[in-house]
Amino acid sequence: MSNNQAIHRAAEIIRQGGIVAFPTETVYGLGANAFNPLAVARIFEAKRRPYFDPLIVHVASHGDPAKLVIDIPSDAKKLMERFWPGPLTVVLLKRGEVPDIVTAGLPSVAIRMPKHEMALSLIEQADCPIAAPSANPFGYLSPTTAEHVRDQLGDQIDFILNGGACEVGVESTIVSFSKGKPRLLRPGGVELEEIESIIGKVEISPIEDDKPSAPGMLPKHYAPRTPIILNWNDKNLDIYKNKKLGLIAFKETKNHLKFHHVEVLSKNGDFREAAANLFAAIRRLDNLNLDLILAETVPEVGLGRAIMDRLRRASHIVLQ
Ligand code: TXA
Ligand code: MG
Repeated sequence: MSNNQAIHRAAEIIRQGGIVAFPTETVYGLGANAFNPLAVARIFEAKRRPYFDPLIVHVASHGDPAKLVIDIPSDAKKLMERFWPGPLTVVLLKRGEVPDIVTAGLPSVAIRMPKHEMALSLIEQADCPIAAPSANPFGYLSPTTAEHVRDQLGDQIDFILNGGACEVGVESTIVSFSKGKPRLLRPGGVELEEIESIIGKVEISPIEDDKPSAPGMLPKHYAPRTPIILNWNDKNLDIYKNKKLGLIAFKETKNHLKFHHVEVLSKNGDFREAAANLFAAIRRLDNLNLDLILAETVPEVGLGRAIMDRLRRASHIVLQ
């Protein structure tokens, strides 16, 4: 099947109330017609995602949000003009027509325009906004290839649109305007610094604050099966002596002898490359039956914020 045929087929499935995994520039999404509550419910079932966790609605044009929201504040408009299509999600007060299942009953809806030809064609051809979370079982890492999706959710979903590896590799940055002043709910593919250069200071507010009820489980999002340890010290690697260890290294370093396997996120320490490789690297390590994965930290500026946020959420235990 050619790409065009595949997009055509996927759009038809969405129109008929099915669910389709599709590539975006950040990670793969699992989508349904945002205005079809039954189709959206299937996404929650396939992912085993709790219904209190709202979805992002994906659009294909700057005019589409008008169908979803009451009003677009001027700062939100500026960000949308500057970063769409791209890895920025804005949260705005929703119209009554947006089904509650999409927003988990919140008065606001999250919207983004992905920067990916296949995703944009899919939305256009399906002729509806597409509600889509990342296409992974709830609580696991987001998929950055079609194979990741197939391995974990292949038998739960109607179609997988294969667009190769995702270019950005971490999810979108989420900025909420639902309570007036802009707030950063999740660091992601657009740097906070870039956002602040356009609209000024943005308050940092963890995503959990916006959930109707999130019983303390969400900070552990993105968790692989193998424990990831963030604050370790290479002077006392001895305490891990009899363990089969993996390492997530930010850049190339000299001596990795004590590790069974090392994933270097970016040889030259480039944040973009590191973010693009992050989830696939953790998945590879998670498939090696290691006892522990040690992860190096990266500076928390630019994309480093999103990388550290995901690493923290992926780490189960913190050893002092
Ligand atoms: O890059 C991305 O954003 C990817 C691709 C597929 O677009 N999507 C993604 O979706 O990461 P998901 O569902 O894994 O994460 C969306 C986050 C959730 O943590 C959810 O709680 C939050 O967005 N969210 C959605 N609607 C919201 C709302 N109305 N208010 C506050 N947070 C919201
Ligand atoms: Mg997700």
